[in-house]
Amino acid sequence: MCGIVGYVGNKSAVDILLEGLTSLEYRGYDSSGVAVNVNGKVELYKAAGKLQNLKHIVEKNYAEISKSTIGIGHIRWATHGAPTVENAHPHSCNCGKVAVVHNGIIENFKELKEKLEKNGCTFRSQTDTETIAHLVATKFGEVHNLTEAVRLATKEIEGAYAICVIHQDLPNTIVATRRNAPLVVGLGEGENFVASDVPALIQYTKKAMYLEDNQIVTLTPDSIKLIDIDNNPLAQHIEMLPWEPVALSKMGYKHFMLKEIHEQPDVVRNVLSGKLRAVDENVSLKEVTLDKEKLRELSRIQIVACGTSLHAAMVGKYLIEEFCEIPVDVEPSSEYIYRKTITDKNTLVIGVSQSGETADTITAVRQAKSKGSHILIITNRPDSTMAREADSLIPVNAGIEVSVAATKSYIAQLISFYLLAIYMAEVKGACDLGDLKHELIILPQKIEKVLAHKEDIQKFARKFANSKDFIFIARGINFPTALEGALKLKEISYINATGYTAGELKHGPIAMLDESMPVLSILMKGKVYDKILSNSEEAKARNARMIALTDSEDEKLNELFECIIRIPEISEILSPALTVVPLQLLAYYIAEFLGKDVDQPRNLAKSVTVE
Ligand code: M6R
Repeated sequence: MCGIVGYVGNKSAVDILLEGLTSLEYRGYDSSGVAVNVNGKVELYKAAGKLQNLKHIVEKNYAEISKSTIGIGHIRWATHGAPTVENAHPHSCNCGKVAVVHNGIIENFKELKEKLEKNGCTFRSQTDTETIAHLVATKFGEVHNLTEAVRLATKEIEGAYAICVIHQDLPNTIVATRRNAPLVVGLGEGENFVASDVPALIQYTKKAMYLEDNQIVTLTPDSIKLIDIDNNPLAQHIEMLPWEPVALSKMGYKHFMLKEIHEQPDVVRNVLSGKLRAVDENVSLKEVTLDKEKLRELSRIQIVACGTSLHAAMVGKYLIEEFCEIPVDVEPSSEYIYRKTITDKNTLVIGVSQSGETADTITAVRQAKSKGSHILIITNRPDSTMAREADSLIPVNAGIEVSVAATKSYIAQLISFYLLAIYMAEVKGACDLGDLKHELIILPQKIEKVLAHKEDIQKFARKFANSKDFIFIARGINFPTALEGALKLKEISYINATGYTAGELKHGPIAMLDESMPVLSILMKGKVYDKILSNSEEAKARNARMIALTDSEDEKLNELFECIIRIPEISEILSPALTVVPLQLLAYYIAEFLGKDVDQPRNLAKSVTVE
């Protein structure tokens, strides 16, 4: 949820830190800070609010700060303590020689704090992180070696963390370590980098080394040393990062969200590439390592996910049950982990996550893994913590997603579920899905058609932008689309939006309808079309402002609906991969019209690494 960047080398560190933090800003943005070493003294610069506030402070002191060729930086999403300057990272010890940035949560921080206070440490913030600074400083006093001090400190720390530490007396050294929070080292020429995520690195280097849990790395401009928590030296596995810097540019779009919505046709092509080659060929999904015999014998599937990924999972349930006749349970990870979950080796457990770092989903899949279930992970980040838990890993290849509101990763997850369901059906010899395969291949053109008419959606958005509430209704396979449409709208416009199964409307929510309430019906031709039409009539009879999202040309709709968003005809079973696009655009244009911070909505972060 927070972002970390560290640099040691031959250039001005602060420029690199601020660049890096800018590219991580989507991960958290309620306060930020940097620590540098100027003339042999560790100096901290911090600001509450957006990163821009820190940049102003740095600008004012630039002549001084820019002398430092070492530094660590942090962008925060508050967990312990309000987003104030005092609570912003980096944190330092009493003598100010040690500075620390941290992602995650130190679970035993109260006990540690008590102990440290008894030993004379004075705390200046409400954060759990400050304990690390005092603890490392205490250990450094004993061993006079920063790597060793960090190693000893991590033996006492419980919880999840990625930390970077510098010490005033070592102007060429950063020590970093992790447990259940990502950290990656970037290798340069005469300079080295460390960050919580690759966007902070890719403009400087593509050579990287991912840290594993409990590994400790010591970086100087010319060296990288890796040890485990017991002080054993470790071999380094250097990889080339697949990301391109251009992925982080808005490419002329006003917001990343709009750019990412427009990338969706290509994302679909990418996901299908190499897996669905022709209508008369079986889907190839080498990523699924579960033995075909075992797959045929599966008695049950459980899918765990959060937020938008949960909605993709709900579509996945529908598909797998429809094609493979295996019962599928979908559950928010945060619920799954706090009840007695019945799973075993005949259950396939699927974790779905854009970031692969969502704490609840990681815990859920670990819980299932401990019971012997085969774990299949569908993620946009094959380099993530969750991916490492996978027995089968399906990377969705959506490319880096910067906007906090997930769009292209959702489409990529959906398409992955279509491929998985078809693959499983083919392994089971269940049914002929040639028509669906054909439709999948031509789906990108249909999405392009929807995007080509975005101005119509923009017009509707302006009409409804001042609504206080919004209701989305659908049935069957598009019910998750209604939930997703509502989630997108509330996330970025802060309008109270809810998705209902259309049949449930009359069991309560209908009481809310009057002339001020927009009701958007997802009305796709198919087996529930007439039913949703009747439910829309019921809403209209209560004076609701009716909007249709439909592939029907039926003239009668003009009487019932104030606005009609028409999309290309598509089979009902594949329609969620198309109906979501206009809803993403509607949410986008409403938020943009209201002047909201579309890419970085309040209170949110791109990956939620706390339970
Ligand atoms: O990275 P994940 O897919 O695991 O994240 C899950 C949710 O936090 C995420 O989908 C969230 O709901 C998005 N902001 C939705 O736009």
